[in-house]
Formats: sequence, C-alpha cells, structure tokens
Amino acid sequence: MSLPMAIAEPASSTLLDLTWVRSQFPSLAQTVNGHPVVFLDGPGGTQVPQRVIDAIADYLARNNANTGGAYPTSRNTDRMIAEARAAMDDFLNCAADEVVIGPNMTTLTYAMSRALGREFGPGDEIVLTLLDHDANFSPWKALEEQGVTIRTVNFNPADCTLDMDDLARKISSRTRLVAVGYASNAVGTINNVAEVVNLARQAGALSYIDAVHYAPHGAIDVRVLGCDFLVCSTYKFFGPHMGVLYGRREHLQRLQPYKVRPNTNNIPACWEWGTLNHECIAGIKACADYWEELGRRVETGLAPSETQQAASLQKRREKLSVMSRREAILAAYEATHTHERAMMERMIAGLLAIPRLKLYGISDPRQFDQRCATFAARIEGHTPLELATKLGDRGFFTWDGNYYALNLTEQLGVERSGGFLRIGLVHYNTMDEVERLLAALREIVGT
Ligand SMILES: Cc1ncc(COP(=O)(O)O)c(C=O)c1O
Repeated sequence: MSLPMAIAEPASSTLLDLTWVRSQFPSLAQTVNGHPVVFLDGPGGTQVPQRVIDAIADYLARNNANTGGAYPTSRNTDRMIAEARAAMDDFLNCAADEVVIGPNMTTLTYAMSRALGREFGPGDEIVLTLLDHDANFSPWKALEEQGVTIRTVNFNPADCTLDMDDLARKISSRTRLVAVGYASNAVGTINNVAEVVNLARQAGALSYIDAVHYAPHGAIDVRVLGCDFLVCSTYKFFGPHMGVLYGRREHLQRLQPYKVRPNTNNIPACWEWGTLNHECIAGIKACADYWEELGRRVETGLAPSETQQAASLQKRREKLSVMSRREAILAAYEATHTHERAMMERMIAGLLAIPRLKLYGISDPRQFDQRCATFAARIEGHTPLELATKLGDRGFFTWDGNYYALNLTEQLGVERSGGFLRIGLVHYNTMDEVERLLAALREIVGT
C-alpha cells in the first residue's frame, strides 16, 4: 500500500469534525491498487490515532522498564500504568482498583472462569447465549469438566435478536452466572444487557458482560448496568492490542486468582500475571486521551452552524472548562452514535437493494436502536471469501467467515459455506465510503 489520498466528505449533520477525526489516523490515508483504503474491518480491530503510536514509541524510547524498581524509568512505568487504569475507570465509570488490564478479552475471561470455577460445582448452572462470540462461551463451557451445567439461550433467527423469553426461562435459582454479549460482533445486535443483569441479580446470579463489540459504538456505564463483570478490548476502540476487565471490587477481593506467590495479593494487580505489555498500556492512556479530545471538540462546537453563534460558543467553552474526562468521553460517544446511525441507515437501504443479497440481523428501521453498524450478508452465487477478496482488491477491507461467533453461523446454517461477509463501520468511516462500497458490491455482482 502507498500514497496518501484525501477523501472529501460532504457537509453532514453530524457533530463530529470528521476531517479532524480522519487526520488523526495515519493509516486511513493509504491506497491499495490505486484505490483509497476503506477500513470496514473495525469489528476485527480498529485503526489507531497517531497519539497511540507516539505513546507506544515514546514509552519504549524513554521509560522501558519493569514495575516496582527503585529508579526513575520504573517509577515512571508504575505511574503510567496507574494513569492508564484511571483513564479506563473514566471510560467504564468504575473505580481504578476495579480495572484489570490483560493481553486480551479471551485471556481475561479464561482467568475469571477458572477463578469463579473454584466456587462452582455439580448442581450449579451457567447461562450462555448462542449469539455470543466464542470467547464468552468456551471459557464458561470448560467448567462442565467440574460438573457445572450449561444452559444456552436461543436467538430469533429472523432478526438475530436474543430470545429474552428463553433467557428468562433458562435462569433459575440454580444459576450462578449469566454471560452475555453487549453487542454481536457478527450481526450487530445490541442486547438489552441491563435487563439481563436484572434477571441475573433477581436469581442471585452473577453477570458477565462481553462489551468488546459494543465499546467502539456506545458508552459503557458499569454502575448504571449494575453488572458484576464487564470485559472489552482496547484494540476494538482505537487503542492497542490489549484487554480490560471491570470486576466489582468485592468480587476481585473475594475470589482467588491463580497466580504466582511473589505477586501481590492486592487488587487489581493480583489479577495481572507476569510482566504486562507496558508499551501498549501507554497506548491505552493515549486512546482514552483521543476519546476525550474527540468529545471536547464536539463540545467546542466546531460544526459550522455553531461558529456563527458566538454567544452560544462562549457558553460552550465555559462548559468545556469544567467538563470532566468522563463527560467528554460521553460527548464523543453521542457524536459517534449520530454519525454511525446515519451511515447505518444508508448501508442497510443500499444492501437490501442489491439483488440476491441476504442481510442477517435487524433490517426493520423500527428496531434500529437495537443494532449497531455491523452488517453480515451473503450474496447468492458468491462465497463470502470471494466477495471479501474482490472487495479487498478494490481497497475495501471487510471480513469473511464466522469471526468466532461459531454458534451463530452454525444455527443459521452458513458455517459450512463460508459464513458471512462482514462490513463494519466505525466513527472514522464516511458516508462517501458507504456509497463507494455499495457501488463496488453492485459492480462485483453485476447489477
Ligand atoms: C464480541 C467479541 N468478544 C470477544 C472477542 C475476543 O476478544 P480478544 O481478541 O480481545 O480476546 C471478540 C474479538 O473479536 C469479539 O468481537
């Protein structure tokens, strides 16, 4: 890939300053075969802003050290990790000692399933869903080895929404844990996790939320949700390849992690094993800084209509000066949502107009609040791999297969024939990219 290429975006009603947004991500300027690259692979991992790259490089250049040493670079490393933790507590709305940092969501979930498994045995039940990524399925299913019973919740095949009646039926006084995804990484369904947490709590069970796919699209508030655990991966929301787990303090203190003896018994570090990827933790802090600046720029009213209203702008500036990092992050999410929603509506209308294309998941506008801008499709006569390859040659980076949402592809009968073509939009995508993707698809299928 080579040569940067400017991408013009027509004026839109979004509050996002898209020109600024895109200028932050150096990778967006690449081309392939002379085509500007369109990153539609966000569900597999998003691009990172320059400040994340700089923070990682800067850490390695100046502060590369292990923790707990009696010298400056080690102390700086300790401070940097504390800052990253504090940034993530603002991101999730919890306390810093409830933030566990790990290599990825899957590893953190296995660590937690092993620790919780020490308390579970025959007669205990865990409720899982068939809509979930396998990382929120297999680590819990592994507890069958010690006699735990797994109950699985179905989804409605017509629109890939979770069958909440089935979920309520599967939860009982024997349930010890309910594990559910906040949003599907395959079909984009956003689950009513607040209701799931409620049902779990009423039954005396713990709730474990996989927010990996939701995190780039919607603000997370573990206090409002009232969940016991929530996991996400920073590489899905413009940060480095790392995972973050929120655990309610009382659980992190009470549960016994598997760990080496010299490691501290204090939370959250007792859940963080070995030497972590410090340079990427520096990147986590920079990722939160990016979200914060995004929110502050939304609030400063960089949209043209705002600049005409000096008095209103002044007021906004005053508000800005007292806005907390959490408030700025929430403002960023609000603007992100508006922009993604407009692109989602256009993408769905455009996909449905392509002959022989089947879109999986919600397509009825009345349900759009229950989905994000992640689309799974198949086109008769073309395998998903074929489509992804042809799109890739034209600069559109999509995905094909099951993306580890294995139960879903099996249930929908597409696992043996290549799964789906997945198109994922995030806030740095543009309406123009949506139009060009639709045109490319039409050209590939010959309409
Ligand atoms: C919804 C969802 N959950 C869990 C995971 C696993 O995350 P990680 O790669 O951080 O282990 C993914 C990764 O694609 C995902 O999309």
